[in-house]
Amino acid sequence: QKNGYDTFMQKEMHEQPYVIRETLRGRIEDSIVMPELDGIDLRDYDHVYLIACGTAYHASLYAQYLGREWMDMPITCVPASEFRYGNYPVNAKTLAIFVSQSGETADTLAALKMCLRKGATTLAISNVLDSSLARLADITMYTCAGPEIAVASTKAYTTQLVLLAAMMVKLAQNAGAQVRDVETFIHDLKEIPNVVEAMLEQENVMERYARLLQDQRDAYFIGRQLDYVSVLEGALKLKEISYVHADAYYAGELKHGPIALIDEGTVVIALATQKEVAPKTISNIEETIARGAKVILIKAPGIHSDKIERQIEIPAIHPYLAGIPATILLQLFAFYTAKEKGCNVDQPRNLAKSVTVE
Ligand code: F6R
Repeated sequence: QKNGYDTFMQKEMHEQPYVIRETLRGRIEDSIVMPELDGIDLRDYDHVYLIACGTAYHASLYAQYLGREWMDMPITCVPASEFRYGNYPVNAKTLAIFVSQSGETADTLAALKMCLRKGATTLAISNVLDSSLARLADITMYTCAGPEIAVASTKAYTTQLVLLAAMMVKLAQNAGAQVRDVETFIHDLKEIPNVVEAMLEQENVMERYARLLQDQRDAYFIGRQLDYVSVLEGALKLKEISYVHADAYYAGELKHGPIALIDEGTVVIALATQKEVAPKTISNIEETIARGAKVILIKAPGIHSDKIERQIEIPAIHPYLAGIPATILLQLFAFYTAKEKGCNVDQPRNLAKSVTVE
């Protein structure tokens, strides 16, 4: 069942090249093929929402970012548990996109039902065939991650990222927007399975870095722009399986408070994959080093700092896709930290695979 791996999480991390390829199969040729979306033009809507929980919410934040980059219209991303009780306008001119691995998460499902009642158009992205979410939504698209057994989501997340990446290109084009570097983006999206494969080969490096947390109770993740989405997910993964308290901050927000927590030996995991803002992040990292932090830097090629001892590079790839290889490294980091601490990686305490209560 575990294909020779000790844990489902490790097996599922290693399935990522395959399931990403499966999720993209038939959906990207020279352009994006998503007939379900052919009639959807965001200019027809007054409000567009992305609604999800946990890791799926992080995937939604990624899609929100792409939407902001490519289109001249606001897309609002809200955790389902907040959306339900907040006074967000929903009516017949609303498009609500729901992202859920299980398609059974109580808050996500309730938010969908509310949107349906108010006459919105609903789109569900689910991994489980015929899930409640999939059955109820007006339009359903599936990720092809296969069954995810480990409580901590890995392959479901990365398949959501690639599906959402393709979907946002399609929606932008449907809305008449010019997607900058679209050929490179699509080319690199097709390459993602190979890039993920290459990252999984860095397992030993992340295993070694994970030992830094052996005697630590806290870890701080920092990044800017799209890197912030990846650090949110990296911190969530670490806390849920290793019980290390992990916080994710915008690198630029450090000096507005969190830097007070940085002390001799504090572990900081920093991401710098976005060229325009990387120098700023590097200077924030150096401020933490000056206070004694032990830093692990995940970076894109061409970004340098001599002051950072532990650095790992992702392959050259379109910057809007860099979060995917970075996420693989962060998954490995969380996994080995948890293993090192003797935690039950597949079934962390207090967590259920599918949260069907509110
Ligand atoms: C974290 C994790 C959870 C889920 C969340 C939503 O690793 O798995 O945060 O992402 O409970 O679940 P789904 O996607 O099934 O709606």
